[in-house]
Amino acid sequence: QDKKLWGGRFAEATDGLVELFNASVGFDQRLAEQDIRGSLAHVAMLGQVGILSADEVAQITDGLTAVLADILAGNFEWRLDREDVHMNVEAALRDRIGPVAGKLHTARSRNDQVAVDFRLFTKEAALDLADKTRALRVVMLAEAEKHLESEVILPGYTHLQVAQPILLSHWFMAYVAMLERDEGRFRDAAERMDESPLGSSALAGTPWPVDRHATAAALGFARPTANSLDGVGSRDFALEFLSACAILSAHLSRLSEELILYSTFEFGFITLPDSHTTGSSIMPQKKNPDVSELARGKAGRVFGNLMGLLTVVKGTPLAYNKDLQEDKEGVFDSYDTLSIVLRLYAEMMPKTVWHADVTRAAAARGYSTATDVADFLARQGVPFREAHEVVGGLVGVASRSGRQLWDLTDAELRAAHPLLNAEVAQSLTVEESVRGRASFGGTAPHRVREAIEQARTRLNS
Ligand code: ARG
Repeated sequence: QDKKLWGGRFAEATDGLVELFNASVGFDQRLAEQDIRGSLAHVAMLGQVGILSADEVAQITDGLTAVLADILAGNFEWRLDREDVHMNVEAALRDRIGPVAGKLHTARSRNDQVAVDFRLFTKEAALDLADKTRALRVVMLAEAEKHLESEVILPGYTHLQVAQPILLSHWFMAYVAMLERDEGRFRDAAERMDESPLGSSALAGTPWPVDRHATAAALGFARPTANSLDGVGSRDFALEFLSACAILSAHLSRLSEELILYSTFEFGFITLPDSHTTGSSIMPQKKNPDVSELARGKAGRVFGNLMGLLTVVKGTPLAYNKDLQEDKEGVFDSYDTLSIVLRLYAEMMPKTVWHADVTRAAAARGYSTATDVADFLARQGVPFREAHEVVGGLVGVASRSGRQLWDLTDAELRAAHPLLNAEVAQSLTVEESVRGRASFGGTAPHRVREAIEQARTRLNS
């Protein structure tokens, strides 16, 4: 045990349990690289403005570079008694270069140090998840394109009851649209958090003539944060990242739920690849959609990470409070979770086989073209509400006798409404129904083609 870096005013050693409770090195060592980058920018600036001599800057820079090399090589002993990543690195620097290491912390506090480290990490994580979301977006778009050629038909559901037939490509494009916004949320968040808090010092700024613009630029930030209290005390950049993660997770969880249902024996719409499913230890026949179930389940922890940090920050007075040390694990966890889920889906979707005969047959069940019959009447001047009532009656007749709409006789059709005749049968096929929904954004093949082209243009722009 060496003396605490902050130990000057203490007469008694830290209680062991307090040390354990207080330490964050177990998880914040993940910020080591960002921490050393931050320190390198800080020390270079201290030299530029004349606070440290060129020789001191060189010694500290070389020392930090060597410490980073040790950490990356796994030759570094993380010590709990050194509390966190910042003091582990600084103590290791002192072990290496002696007392001059103590000059690194001039005009700096751990408060702005951790804030800059964590912003660097979160910004990189946001951009990385944006890229991974984009990769899945590309995969889903390719699937939409692939299934458009043969115009594969899928039942569209509301309330999980068959509603109207749609193109499978249209379904894929719905996810493409969600993923496009998800990607945008990560990029927006990265842009908004692109400010360096370094130089805010403990909370009030510093009397030293620091150049915050220089350190911000050296670290790749667009600018320094404008207010020192806000710079060290705010974590909304992490909240925004966690929100984007939560919304993306919700989308991936809905996708998962659909794939789980569609892969059941009862639906039989898809066959998931062997490489991305698992078996049962007792039931030899089982092939379980574990990837999708875990993706759905892990949405719970990703939501929890957002709620957790919102709750941590809500009661903290400005500026830094130790509560804020609780900001990191949730961000790491959401980042790791989504990194793997996005990659798995990007691999799994192209290997998933869709059974077009089954989906088409399912799309024809459940009176899915009843709206088309109502529209047939309305096109001939019957008020839509009245047409709705008439067709509802026909569905009742058919369902009570276990038949489909196209099984009804001419006489039954005419009895329901004089304008109904055999011609309506043309509106009853799922293909006609899909073709008819040609409004902008609708499921008609040429509209889906148009949507795919526009989505591709946006991807390439
Ligand atoms: N480990 C701390 C954290 O993650 C670093 C900042 C500590 N600052 C302080 N004043 N105790 O928040």
